[in-house]
Amino acid sequence: MKTTVHTLRKLKGQRPIVAVTAYDAIIARFASDAGVDIVLVGDSVGNVLLGFDTTVPVTLDMICHHTAAVARAKPNALIAADVPFGEAHYDFEKVLRACQRLLQEAGAEAVKIEGGASMAPTIARLVEAGVPVWAHIGLQPQQIHALGRYKKFGTNSAEADSLLADAVALEKAGAFALLIELTDAAVAQKISAAVKIPVIGIGAGPNCDGQILVYTDLLGLTPGYVPAFAKQFADAGAQMKAGFTAYTEAVRARKFPE
Ligand code: KIV
Ligand code: NA
Repeated sequence: MKTTVHTLRKLKGQRPIVAVTAYDAIIARFASDAGVDIVLVGDSVGNVLLGFDTTVPVTLDMICHHTAAVARAKPNALIAADVPFGEAHYDFEKVLRACQRLLQEAGAEAVKIEGGASMAPTIARLVEAGVPVWAHIGLQPQQIHALGRYKKFGTNSAEADSLLADAVALEKAGAFALLIELTDAAVAQKISAAVKIPVIGIGAGPNCDGQILVYTDLLGLTPGYVPAFAKQFADAGAQMKAGFTAYTEAVRARKFPE
């Protein structure tokens, strides 16, 4: 069954929601066939697949390109796409145009936007235009140059209060879900209980309405640093390396082709 923002909303309180990143048709198909609820074309494509150090260099054109590939897999999972660095902070017409490209041209079914309560007015207008918005609070990796480092959020009461206020404002603006990244588990739990929309966590403890991971982390495909909160559920990297090695040896030994 096709997942929509409507069916997703009904899962809150019923069972945990499962989300994962996907940047191409193959991975979108595997994830969707496994029963994942949401595939996110994250701007993590920049550091995960494209060799950038952060998500900041990722452009709207890049997200459109990868989202179109995911959409061509026709996944049952909801297709969400990240609005890249800076794009959500232009005048509304330009923000709408970016979302229009993601939904019309690329085939996204929802967009994800980093930002707290200050993004609420923009999000309310996008929702009014028919753009389902997944709001992203806690650690916002697009802020890396301003933050100086990736850090955990909600670890003091002022930060916890402001996260809760963000969540409430974004729900009120009409966001269909929240993503909460690298945030104190008790705060994430409190936010999940305080809003009616699903809260999907990453590095935010077990008591959210769902979880998301970067697919290369959970499949053992990330070559470098893997965050401590990620769990590896398969070692696809080792299998791929074994496959390439077997092919190389077979060709060199004139065993392939037979
Ligand atoms: O781009 C991304 O991978 C994200 C994560 C929080 C899932 O936004
Ligand atoms: Na992202």
